[in-house]
Amino acid sequence: MILQASPPLRIARFRPEIDAAVAGVLGGTEYILGSAVAAFEAAFAEYCGSRHCVGVASGTDALALSLRALGIGPGDEVILPALTFAGSAQAILHCGAEPRFVEVEAGTRCIDPSAVADAVNGRTAAIMPVHLFGHPADMPALREVADRHHLALIEDCAQSHGATLKGRRLGTFGHAAAYSFYPTKNLGCIGDGGAVATNDAQLAERVRALRQYGFAPGGRVSRSLGFNARLDAIQAAILLALLPHLAAGNAERRAIAARYRAHFEPCPAIGLPPDADGCVYHQFALAHADRDGLMRHLAAAGIGSAVHYAPALHRHPAFLEGAARPLPVTDALSATLLSLPIQPEVARDAVEPIAEAVLDFVGARTR
Ligand SMILES: Cc1ncc(COP(=O)(O)O)c(C=O)c1O
Repeated sequence: MILQASPPLRIARFRPEIDAAVAGVLGGTEYILGSAVAAFEAAFAEYCGSRHCVGVASGTDALALSLRALGIGPGDEVILPALTFAGSAQAILHCGAEPRFVEVEAGTRCIDPSAVADAVNGRTAAIMPVHLFGHPADMPALREVADRHHLALIEDCAQSHGATLKGRRLGTFGHAAAYSFYPTKNLGCIGDGGAVATNDAQLAERVRALRQYGFAPGGRVSRSLGFNARLDAIQAAILLALLPHLAAGNAERRAIAARYRAHFEPCPAIGLPPDADGCVYHQFALAHADRDGLMRHLAAAGIGSAVHYAPALHRHPAFLEGAARPLPVTDALSATLLSLPIQPEVARDAVEPIAEAVLDFVGARTR
């Protein structure tokens, strides 16, 4: 069986480094925050090209605490795509604000800046683009809309660790960037984890307070509402051990994507994912009219695949109020996208049988 993704295979590959990282925490006395978290925050800030990084408990917390730190709350609307993971919109609800879903571009599958501009109204407080599957959203255009209307810009970088746009790191275009280290992410821990990256020192300080009971810096006095949303030392130590491998892992993902592309390019029935120099292929999602049939065919051949995301968020009961207009491009992608294995430890030696199985199905359909 070829799994769609496999954190255990990644753990096996880097087991000596992970064991040493865990042993370091077990041999110490700090299990929450402490020097391991500080060391990871410093290293990840440098990697991201941001001045500050604050480790938090998950990607959803990274988004929610960024929004709160930017003063977003009840009465505010936050514009985001509906083609994303539920956590993106949950974070908005957590702050008492409302998600406002807008259309994505058919080509990039990321939020459409012109749809964002159309949706801005008197209650709009922020724009939250998602770099879906590791592909950059059009940040210069989104920054222009945000600046024109004095809106906060929060990048959901949960799927784009290390990605760039025209040579510049994603996550540095907005006011804050939110990362998830869920185990399947390009940089993933062995449990939950997340981080906020920003160049704004005050914003970072507010997130630091919010992640820990609203404590004032260096003490245990609550100055404001806060949460328990800290990054564990053991996860931070693992992330610090895996960070040096991230760039090579992203390059491997790009190489695997190029191999898939060569197999599928001649086949018009397959919609290929967009390519960009700085894309880090968190997923390789192709589009096919009979997505569910293709998924069943692959499963019968022992190949795992995954649907990202159906239903799209504007169809989730929790977010039904979120779409002011129909989202036909989002719906069409949601009905046709299928993510093939791309994690290097899973896909490196399996591209050919996977591609063959896909082409076999597509050929059978068109004969
Ligand atoms: C685009 C996106 N946003 C937010 C999240 C939420 O992250 P977490 O699961 O760490 O809370 C995820 C991932 O899981 C995601 O893929």
